[in-house]
Amino acid sequence: MERNINNLLVTGGAGFIGSNLIRHIFRETDFAGRLVNVDKLTYAGNPENLADIRNDFGADRYRFERADICDREAMNSLFKKYDVDAVIHLAAESHVDRSIAGPAEFITTNIYGTFSLLEAARSFWGDRRDVVFHHVSTDEVFGSLGESGYFDESTPYAPRSPYSSSKASSDHLVRAYFHTYRLPVTLSHCSNNYGPYQFPEKLIPLAVLNLLSGREVPVYGDGKNVRDWLYVADHAAALWTIVRRGTAGESYNVGGGNELENIALVRLLCEIVAAARDRPSEPYLKLITFVKDRPGHDRRYAINCDKIKRELGWRQSVKFEEGLRSTVRWYLDNGGWVERVKTGEYKKWVEKNYTRR
Ligand code: NAD
Ligand code: TYD
Repeated sequence: MERNINNLLVTGGAGFIGSNLIRHIFRETDFAGRLVNVDKLTYAGNPENLADIRNDFGADRYRFERADICDREAMNSLFKKYDVDAVIHLAAESHVDRSIAGPAEFITTNIYGTFSLLEAARSFWGDRRDVVFHHVSTDEVFGSLGESGYFDESTPYAPRSPYSSSKASSDHLVRAYFHTYRLPVTLSHCSNNYGPYQFPEKLIPLAVLNLLSGREVPVYGDGKNVRDWLYVADHAAALWTIVRRGTAGESYNVGGGNELENIALVRLLCEIVAAARDRPSEPYLKLITFVKDRPGHDRRYAINCDKIKRELGWRQSVKFEEGLRSTVRWYLDNGGWVERVKTGEYKKWVEKNYTRR
């Protein structure tokens, strides 16, 4: 069964995955309806990420609403105003290091914000079964793996950071709404995403931009922590597939099949940046600096995503080195975006042009 979607609400669409998802939906799928992007525009939200979509698709197809998902009145009124029939919920505080420095916002947005959206959906949809609330979660809710093994959809939850615990809490709420109120929900757990428009606090863009400007690249601990890297466009395709064809009440793992130690990844980035600039790699490799480890640093994440492949026919399409090369190329070609983000100029522009609700 394919769901027919007319009015799609995307939360957190001005962030990294959200903006890539919205671009994917407009440019790569047969979606013919209206998409409403609800975003509070925290430090991680930048409407410039979607300037092309605003220009090319116009207000009939694409709407932006600056709002906090924790604002229950605002969420209720958005469901009514746009007659929402599907939600892809991405809005969250998303960076583990920030959750260690200050967990409060993670609890508020990730847990209470999800509750507020679930309540708006429950009250607006009533008994409807032709709708869907898709919750975007993370493989980090499953905790840390040893040398072997993979997370699958039935792996028990064992989150270890304030970030992953807040995401785990929101997952439980989403499932509770399915079992208690029969709200048609789906969930996905993805591995580490990379690609264009990623805020340069996460490892790949931080490393690329530091290398490009001759600054040290900090590698936490011994650099042997393993992550599985997923190209963001492949993730976007998976999310759209789940929203159209996923079974209510089910969760789907989405992985890249690219497990790598952080140190190996950073060395590879040095090679790619050097090649892109037609320079030797040694000076870049010398910028790698081992620093104090992150507290509670999960050792290894690795994901088994056979279920979404088998049941929904999704596949990764971007090879890892190809994805990394095009990501490095994107950061090289988009110096203006990088500059505005690094200097904080984008925030001044946002505050001037986007009023808060
Ligand atoms: P991001 O930090 O780039 O973007 C988050 C967006 O949410 C921003 O636009 C921000 O303004 C918005 N937002 C934050 N708080 C809000 C609030 N209270 N109300 C409305 N909007 C708010 O994050 P991302 O990397 O794009 O991640 C998106 C989702 O995917 C998150 O739910 C995250 O937990 C999940 N996820 C991300 C990754 C990854 O590798 N980036 C991996 C697994 C899961
Ligand atoms: P990150 O991009 O923050 O994602 P997550 O913590 O959600 O996996 O980090 C990816 C890996 O890189 C993680 O093992 C922590 C490590 N890391 C560094 O070694 N140095 C850095 O500067 C950052 C930001 C992360």
